[in-house]
Amino acid sequence: MCGIAAYTGKKNGNTVILNGLKKLEYRGYDSAGIAYLQNASINILKSVGKVENLKELALKDKVNSFCIIGHTRWATHGKPSQENSHPHTGNKSEIALVHNGIIENYLELKQRLAAKGHKFKSETDSEVAAHLIEEYLKKTKNFEAAFTSAVKHLKGAYAITAMYSKEPGVLMAAKKQSPLVLGIAEDEYFLASDVPAFLEYTRKVIFLEDGDIIKISPTGYKITNAQGGNIKRKISFINWDSASAQKGGYKHFMLKEIFDQPQAVEDTLRTLPLNIEKSFSITPARAKKIKGFYIIACGTAYHAALAAKYWIESIAKLPAEVETASEFRYRDVNFQKDWVLAAISQSGETADTLSALIKAKKAGVKVLSVCNVLGSTIARESDFTVYTHCGPEISVASTKAFTAQLTALYSLAINLAAARGALSKKEAASLYKELYRLPALMTQALKTREQIRKIAKKAYKKPSFIFLGRNTGYPLALEGALKLKEISYLHAEGFAGGEIKHGPIALIDAATPVITLMPAGKTYDKMLNSCREVEARGADLIMITNECLSNAIVLPKTGENLFPIIAAVPLQLFAYYIADLRGREIDRPRNLAKSVTVE
Ligand code: F6R
Repeated sequence: MCGIAAYTGKKNGNTVILNGLKKLEYRGYDSAGIAYLQNASINILKSVGKVENLKELALKDKVNSFCIIGHTRWATHGKPSQENSHPHTGNKSEIALVHNGIIENYLELKQRLAAKGHKFKSETDSEVAAHLIEEYLKKTKNFEAAFTSAVKHLKGAYAITAMYSKEPGVLMAAKKQSPLVLGIAEDEYFLASDVPAFLEYTRKVIFLEDGDIIKISPTGYKITNAQGGNIKRKISFINWDSASAQKGGYKHFMLKEIFDQPQAVEDTLRTLPLNIEKSFSITPARAKKIKGFYIIACGTAYHAALAAKYWIESIAKLPAEVETASEFRYRDVNFQKDWVLAAISQSGETADTLSALIKAKKAGVKVLSVCNVLGSTIARESDFTVYTHCGPEISVASTKAFTAQLTALYSLAINLAAARGALSKKEAASLYKELYRLPALMTQALKTREQIRKIAKKAYKKPSFIFLGRNTGYPLALEGALKLKEISYLHAEGFAGGEIKHGPIALIDAATPVITLMPAGKTYDKMLNSCREVEARGADLIMITNECLSNAIVLPKTGENLFPIIAAVPLQLFAYYIADLRGREIDRPRNLAKSVTVE
């Protein structure tokens, strides 16, 4: 996830773009850059770190241009650095381009372009698009034609905006599966990943759609499809204020991030085959050598690790031991030969996870990590890293990182199983087929929002909550309780459904709602029994299932394995609405920090 802001008009666009990028920092903040047109040539300024650093450079350079493109980056291909930050150019600086998304076929395009004499300066997937436009310009000499031809060759997700020094004032853009909005004002036009980037200049916008190719200049705009056919899109008027616009109109970042999940999971899924086969290179020989997994993590990531244990054991048929990193780092672990350590961390900077990882490395154990932040310490210290692609998670309470971690770990289990021969190719393909339905299933799960808000309204004054689950529902019970306690400051505990009789049932009374996680499958009837037991003690029951059950929150039907990823959605919404009704500071709960870099 990166942020794009672009301007063409009649005034100096410097302040417009730098303020716009600042508003988009929530989409990425590891580096930033602008390309601006001055005296018919393109100048580029880039800086590593926040937009503030870029502002200083722009001030020194006295940037004054009526046509500027800008970018704030969240690294996906290539570490955060001056070379990898956008805008990118072709061999000559006649084309400059900014990109958000992932160009899946960039290696193939890079090879073809290199054979034609293109020299690449960065490790990014984005740079190939600039070279490709440059290549087509040799033939067409026309920016619009060259841009349109180049875009036809890109596979993956993109929002791209480009400028060409020989057609001053013209910006070309394209959108597929990454957001891009057009802002319309008097003799000036804006393009951005999100509305807040230009909201102070215009409220008249067009939300561009997949396949749209856009041309803007101070004299007007045009939208076409790849075949050159004109397209008419509806103009909308934004009536949000600037603060809520940054959250995409949602009241809190947490709610926005809950709703971002279908996209985050889709972006993670899109890169997984490349990620897992190429980075982790699970060749059959390597996979067969692995005898087991230690999985370590903290907090929410630890709950993702617990779910992974079920998948690795049941699908890949390998033993897996899961432990919080803070315990693992001080335990006398008798490391077993050919076991791999998997470290799960959104930030890639959690001190306990890092220490546990270093301890394993020192003992000669190979380390695989699942991280969201490219180039983070945990990723750098690992032998292999599988990246989730959520973009930055702003809310302290983790939501989209959790479901993306689960997606990556489930996929890892299938890949391992296929490579080890624990699943036939056909069986693996069928599990993958279901996994690829996940973004749509999560979108469906988000439709429970209103039902959950009503349930939360009835429950938010209760002092204590119990979450129960079995099998892959168990880690989810722990996660549901963690989410609720961290943002509502209420007492909440998660238990394995079978454990309540061994003590926790003493807590249950009419003042203690019980949330049960009940996937269709081998533990469903057992969970129904637990429901009867707690109901008999007067507790209000909130059942989350994918079986046809009345008085329950019913999620789309899937196999048991996918249940935790989908059922995370209503749990997150439940915690959110309870906290909101109690007036909590949801995005920044008391005493908590987003990244725990101290012990
Ligand atoms: C809970 C939460 C924390 C983190 C934990 C690990 O909502 O955000 O429990 O999951 O601090 O952080 P990472 O994944 O960055 O290692």
